[in-house]
Amino acid sequence: MWLFSRKGASGFSWSSTAEEVTEGLDGSGLTAIVTGASSGIGAETARVLALRGVHVVMAVRNLSSGATVKESILKEVPSAKVDVMELDLTSMESVKKFASEFKSRSLPLNILINNAGVMATPFELSKDGIELQFATNHAIFFLLTF
Ligand SMILES: NC(=O)c1ccc[n+]([C@@H]2O[C@H](COP(=O)([O-])OP(=O)(O)OC[C@H]3O[C@@H](n4cnc5c(N)ncnc54)[C@H](OP(=O)(O)O)[C@@H]3O)[C@@H](O)[C@H]2O)c1
Repeated sequence: MWLFSRKGASGFSWSSTAEEVTEGLDGSGLTAIVTGASSGIGAETARVLALRGVHVVMAVRNLSSGATVKESILKEVPSAKVDVMELDLTSMESVKKFASEFKSRSLPLNILINNAGVMATPFELSKDGIELQFATNHAIFFLLTF
């Protein structure tokens, strides 16, 4: 328990929440892409960025889960700017399509959070023939980022 509550040089500890860490920050005018924002850490990241005024683009492969998360964010923060866009990290074609659609919106990109990932999946190849976990968690983020 001590390890989780001990504060580091930043003034935060392992148990600090995203809300605590961003308290007082004004993110208006910033745009963030959060991959895997349809659940878990990605959804919480999207929620707190939106709470701080950041325009959040939720990049998700499941549009209906993404819409549900967006709805819950808007319920809490009615003024939030949140878009849901399709992105499947097992496919380079999907990444290129996402990037092209994002560019066509003429938004700045201030924050890119490459959060989406899978763990310990059975052996399978991505749509581009790369081992699925390596493709999703590592390889394809280079394509998205650059
Ligand atoms: N939680 C932990 O303790 C922990 C520890 C170490 C590292 N991490 C890493 O932190 C990140 C988030 O973890 P989490 O616990 O929030 O996991 P999670 O709840 O399983 O969320 C993972 C997210 O990634 C998305 N995703 C998976 N494959 C994708 C693909 N091919 N294309 C687009 N999106 C895809 C999932 O979308 P779907 O909803 O469509 O599946 C989901 O939204 C992951 O990268 C994970 O490896 C987590």
